[in-house]
Amino acid sequence: MRTDTTLAIRRSDYTEPNYLVETVELGFDLDPTDTRVAARLTLRHNPDGRANDIVLVGDDSLELVQLRMNGKPLSRRAYRLADNELRIPNAPEEAVLEIETALKPEANTSLMGLYVSNGNFFTQCEAEGFRKITFFPDRPDVMAKYKVMLRANREQYPVLLSNGNLIEEGDLGDGRHYALWEDPFRKPSYLFALVAGKLVCQEERCALADGREALLQVWVEEGNLDKTQHAMESLKNSIRWDEERFGLELDLDRFMIVAVGDFNMGAMENKGLNIFNTKYVLANPRIATDSDYANIEAVVGHEYFHNWTGNRVTCRDWFQLSLKEGLTVFRDQEFSADMVGTDSGRAVKRIDDVRVLRQAQFPEDAGPMAHPVRPDSYLEINNFYTVTIYEKGSEVVRMYQTLLGREGFRKGMDLYFERHDGQAVTCDDFRAAMADANGRDLTQFERWYSQAGTPRVRAETRYDDASRIYEITLSQSCPPTPGQKTKLPFHIPVKIGLLDAQGRDLPLVFEGDLSEAPTTRVLELTEASQTFRFTGIFGEPVPSLLRDFSAPVILEYDYSDDDLAFLMAHDSDPFNRWEAGQRLATRHLLALTRAVQESRPLEEAAPGVATFIESLRAILNDTTLDAAFREVALTLPSEGVLAEEMDVIDPQAIHAARQYLRRMLARTLRNDLVAACNLNATTGAYSPDAASAGKRGLKNVALLYLAELDDTDSHAMTQAQYDRADNMTDRIAALMGLVNSSAPGKADALERFYTEFEGEALVIDKWFSLQASARTTHVPDVRRLMKHEAFNLKNPNRARSLIFSFCNANPARFHAPDGSGYEYWAEQVIALNAINPQVAARLARTMDRWRKYDRLLAQLMKKALQRVAEAPKLSKDVLEVVTKALA
Ligand code: PHE
Ligand code: ZN
Repeated sequence: MRTDTTLAIRRSDYTEPNYLVETVELGFDLDPTDTRVAARLTLRHNPDGRANDIVLVGDDSLELVQLRMNGKPLSRRAYRLADNELRIPNAPEEAVLEIETALKPEANTSLMGLYVSNGNFFTQCEAEGFRKITFFPDRPDVMAKYKVMLRANREQYPVLLSNGNLIEEGDLGDGRHYALWEDPFRKPSYLFALVAGKLVCQEERCALADGREALLQVWVEEGNLDKTQHAMESLKNSIRWDEERFGLELDLDRFMIVAVGDFNMGAMENKGLNIFNTKYVLANPRIATDSDYANIEAVVGHEYFHNWTGNRVTCRDWFQLSLKEGLTVFRDQEFSADMVGTDSGRAVKRIDDVRVLRQAQFPEDAGPMAHPVRPDSYLEINNFYTVTIYEKGSEVVRMYQTLLGREGFRKGMDLYFERHDGQAVTCDDFRAAMADANGRDLTQFERWYSQAGTPRVRAETRYDDASRIYEITLSQSCPPTPGQKTKLPFHIPVKIGLLDAQGRDLPLVFEGDLSEAPTTRVLELTEASQTFRFTGIFGEPVPSLLRDFSAPVILEYDYSDDDLAFLMAHDSDPFNRWEAGQRLATRHLLALTRAVQESRPLEEAAPGVATFIESLRAILNDTTLDAAFREVALTLPSEGVLAEEMDVIDPQAIHAARQYLRRMLARTLRNDLVAACNLNATTGAYSPDAASAGKRGLKNVALLYLAELDDTDSHAMTQAQYDRADNMTDRIAALMGLVNSSAPGKADALERFYTEFEGEALVIDKWFSLQASARTTHVPDVRRLMKHEAFNLKNPNRARSLIFSFCNANPARFHAPDGSGYEYWAEQVIALNAINPQVAARLARTMDRWRKYDRLLAQLMKKALQRVAEAPKLSKDVLEVVTKALA
C-alpha cells in the first residue's frame, strides 16, 4: 500500500502564522473558461510568528499570472513555488502583495473554490477552497477585512453578490457591469463567498432587538420564487431565537441566503452570504415533505447561528472544527426543539437526534475512521466533517448544559464571547469559559475531546429492604480505537429517576442529605466505578437511567422484559419511555435474527413478542400521547442499528427478522392501524407545523405497516392515498408502500410521478432514492437506473439519491452474497474520484465496517476496497478512507 503517512497534518505541529493579513482586495473578471483574479493583500509580520518568510498556499489548478511586492514585480529568484506553496523568504515587516491568477471555473467539478452551476458562478471555500482562487495564507487563524470587486457580463450575470455590504455598482460599457462589496468584519478566508448569475430573490425587512433593521434575502433561480417562503420564515425565527435565548444579534445590515443545485454539503455559513444546497431552501407542499420542512428550518438556523459560533469567534486550526460545528449543531437542535414548543415535541426532536447519533456516529466511533471530537491528525480535512465532529460534538456541548444547568451554560456562553469575539480559538478556550463562568473544575471533561470511542456505562442496582436503601453502581469503560489502546474515565452526567410500583417518580434523597429530593437527578460519574445511595425507598423501584440521553454512551442494565414494558407504559421521561420500547424491540429482533440464521421456526423464537406488540397497541391507541411520539414509538430500530448490536453482521438475517416482525405487527394490529390512518387524516390546507406533521407521520407509519400485508385491501389503501394526496409527504409515503409491494398500480404510479415532477430536481432525487432503497431493487436495477436520462453523476444530490441510497439505505440488497453490490460500489467510488473527491470519499465510507461482516462478505468487501486502493490517480480524500479501512 502506498500510504505516505508523512503527509499527515498533526495538531501538535501547530505554529502561529509568520504573517498576518490586514486587508484583502479582490478583483474578479468572471468568465466560465478564463476568470482572472487580482488580489491585493496587505501583510504584516506576526510578532509571535517565527521566520520572515511569507507563506501562501495555492492549488494545482491555479495559474499564477503575476506577482508583485510593494509595487515591484517579484523576480523568479525572489520566491519559491513548489508543492502548492508560494514562499517569499526574508520578506520585509510590512508588505503589499499583488497576485494575479487565472482560473477555469467551468472545468471545476470538485465544487470547491470558484465553480459554475447551471450557468451561474458560486464559491465554496471551507475548509481549503480559497487556495483555488488565489495564493493566500489559507488557514482560519488569519483574519482579514475584505473588499471585493466583481465584474461580469450584465446579461448573463445580472446579479453580483459577495460578503457584507454593497458599496457601489454600475456599468462598464461593453455589455459588462460591476459591483463592489465590503465586509466590515475581519474573517478567515474560508468564509469568503461570491455569487454571480441569473437569480431572483424574495426579500423582507426585519426589525432587530436593538431597533436596527436588516434586509433579508433568499436568492434562487427564476421559477423557484414559489418555494422560498419557508426558508424566509425560518431565517426570521432564527434571528429572533438567537436574540432571546443567547442575547446574540445580527451584526450586518444585510443577510443573504442563496440556493445552488450543485453543492457538496448541506449549506455554508459565509459571512452575510450563506450558500445553500437547494435541498435545504426550496419548499412548497407540492414538492417538499414534512421532514424537508423541518430540515430546512434546522439548516437555516444552523448557518445563521454560525454567525456568532463560527464567524465572530472562529477556529484556530481545523482540529478545532467541533468548536464551531458541535456548538452550532447543539444550537440548531435547541432552536428546533423550541420551535415545536411542547415537552413531548421536544422529546421527539431529542429522539430523532439520538437516532442519527446511534445510526451513524456510534458505528463511526467503533470503526477504522474513529477519531476524537478534536482529532490529532488527518490526511485530508474534508474527511473530518463527520458525525463525530458534528453530532457527538453537539452531545459534548449538551453535557455542559446538563452539568451546569441552562443558566450556567448561558453564563459560559456570555463569557466565551466576552473573551474571544474576533478571535480564532480552541476547544480548550470554550471549556475554560464554561468552567470559569461557573466556578467549576472541568479538567476531566477534556477527555471528551481527546478520547475517541463510545463509552459503555454499566449499571448495577441493589435494594435493601431492611434499610430502605437503593444503590446504583455505575461502571464505565471505553473500547480501544485506532491509535488509542487504553482510555481514562470520562466525566459523565447520568440523569436518572426511580419509579415506584404505580409508575410514579420517587423523590430522590441522597444518603445523608435531606436538603432536597427532586425526582430526577444528574449523577456525575467520574471514576471507573462509583456507587450512589438513595434512602427512604419503600419497595424496590424500577430505575429510569440516562434520562433524555444525558450522555453519548451505551448504557447497559439487566432490565427484565417486564421492567421494560413497565417503563414503556409509565416513565415520566418521554425519551426513556421510547427507549424502553426500543430495547425490547432490539431484544426480540436479535432473537429472531438468530433463529433466521439457524433456520429455526420464527414463531417460537421470541416468546415475548406478542406481549410487546400489545404494548405497542396501547401506545398506538393512546390519544393522550402526541401523534409524533406514537410514530417514533412504533418505528422499529433500523437494520443499521441492529447490525451494530451483533458481533458478526448478517444483513440478510437482520432484514428477514425485521420484516417478519413488521408483518406480524401489521397482522396483529391491523384494525388499530386502519383506525389510526382514518383518525389522523389531516384536512384543510397543508401546514408543516409539528402537530400536523405528527399526524401525517403516524398515519404514514400505520399505512406502511399495512402495506407489508401486500393484499388487495392494503393495495387499495395505498393506491387511494397516492391518487388523492395533495402534499408530498402523503404522496411519497404512498408511493413507497406501492413500490415495496406487488400492487398492480406500482409501475404506473412510478411513471406518473416522474412525468409530473420531471422539472423538479429535488423531487426527481426522491424518485431515484425511493427506488434505490426499495426491497425489490437489486444491483442490476440500480445499474439500469444509472442509465436513465435524468441521472447525472456530476450532480452530488443526484449521485447521492441513487448510489448512496442503494449502498447505505438498502443493506439487504447491497450486501448481495455474490459481492455484486461491492463491485458496483468500487466502480462508483473510482468514477466519482475523478470528478469530485469529496463525494467519492463519502461513498468510500460505506465499507468502514467490513471486518464485522460474516467471513464471505468480509472477503468480498476487502477485495472491493483493495480494488479502489489500487486505482490510479486516487485523491487524498479517498486514499485516506480506504487505507484506514484496510489498515
Ligand atoms: N460549515 C458548513 C456547515 O456546517 C459545512 C460545510 C463544510 C459546507 C465544508 C461546505 C464545505 O454548516
Ligand atoms: Zn456548521
